[in-house]
Amino acid sequence: MDNNARNRVKKATRVKIISMGNAETGKSCIIKRYCEKRFVQKYLATIGIDYGVTKVTVKGQEMKVNIFDMAGHPIFYEVRNEFYKDTQGAMLVYDIADRGSFEALEAWLAEMRNEIGNPAEMDNIVFCVCANKCDKKRVVDEADGRLWAEGKGFHYFETSAQTGEGVGEMFQVLFEGVLSTVENGGKRRPMTTQLGYTKDQAEAIQRLKNSKNDYERLGLHPGASKDDINKAYRKLAVLLHPDKNVAPGSEEAFKLLVAARTNLLKR
Ligand code: GTP
Ligand code: MG
Repeated sequence: MDNNARNRVKKATRVKIISMGNAETGKSCIIKRYCEKRFVQKYLATIGIDYGVTKVTVKGQEMKVNIFDMAGHPIFYEVRNEFYKDTQGAMLVYDIADRGSFEALEAWLAEMRNEIGNPAEMDNIVFCVCANKCDKKRVVDEADGRLWAEGKGFHYFETSAQTGEGVGEMFQVLFEGVLSTVENGGKRRPMTTQLGYTKDQAEAIQRLKNSKNDYERLGLHPGASKDDINKAYRKLAVLLHPDKNVAPGSEEAFKLLVAARTNLLKR
């Protein structure tokens, strides 16, 4: 390789970013806000996929960012599924005023995992979860979104394509994360922010909050003995006690745990 070629290689790092999430959550608007500094109120559904390229400089390094903006509507699955491959960074977008769009994030990840096939490749993708439309009245708590994201090692941002809040910061972290992965030979580095809580702790909180009855909250089958109830309680209490568990929602989950045990022991 001659010097010119070497300089050209050094010049711009080419990366691939994709957007994922239900239709109408604001994926295209977030990208438009960032690239064109404007917002469009009228909903123009993406048909299949939109492609754009933008040049940015991150930590002194020029990056050529290829953005594949996916259509959220299920009918476009056949069109978008081939674009998952070789993704280095992904925005996972939901609408804070639409719980269904938050609950759909798992299905979006599953779709991606299915298309990519290789778990090691999934682990090296940098994910930014965008709790979008934060200018609206929310139905999904920040704690729920943050816990879901950070429990998986993803970054979490509250964004509004309308006001611009959080959008620049989100892209900055996404680009920095991808650049850092490239510089690390394609292996994603662990998140720089120290979470201070474990995946088990995050999962315990989610289970407590999402369970339908007290037995489920304790991870027991109906009719479990008093002994089982106390054992399960003690195990979870260690995981959830707010003095030990600093994850968002631990206090509420601990209260649910205590109430579940009290109710079951009364039976
Ligand atoms: P698909 O392309 O169909 O998957 O949808 P999308 O996720 O790309 O949604 P899009 O960006 O087209 O936005 C959907 C609608 O939500 C539009 O009417 C936008 O004006 C609106 N919208 C997007 N972002 C925001 C936001 O931050 N706040 C508010 N209030 N509205 C938003
Ligand atoms: Mg769109």
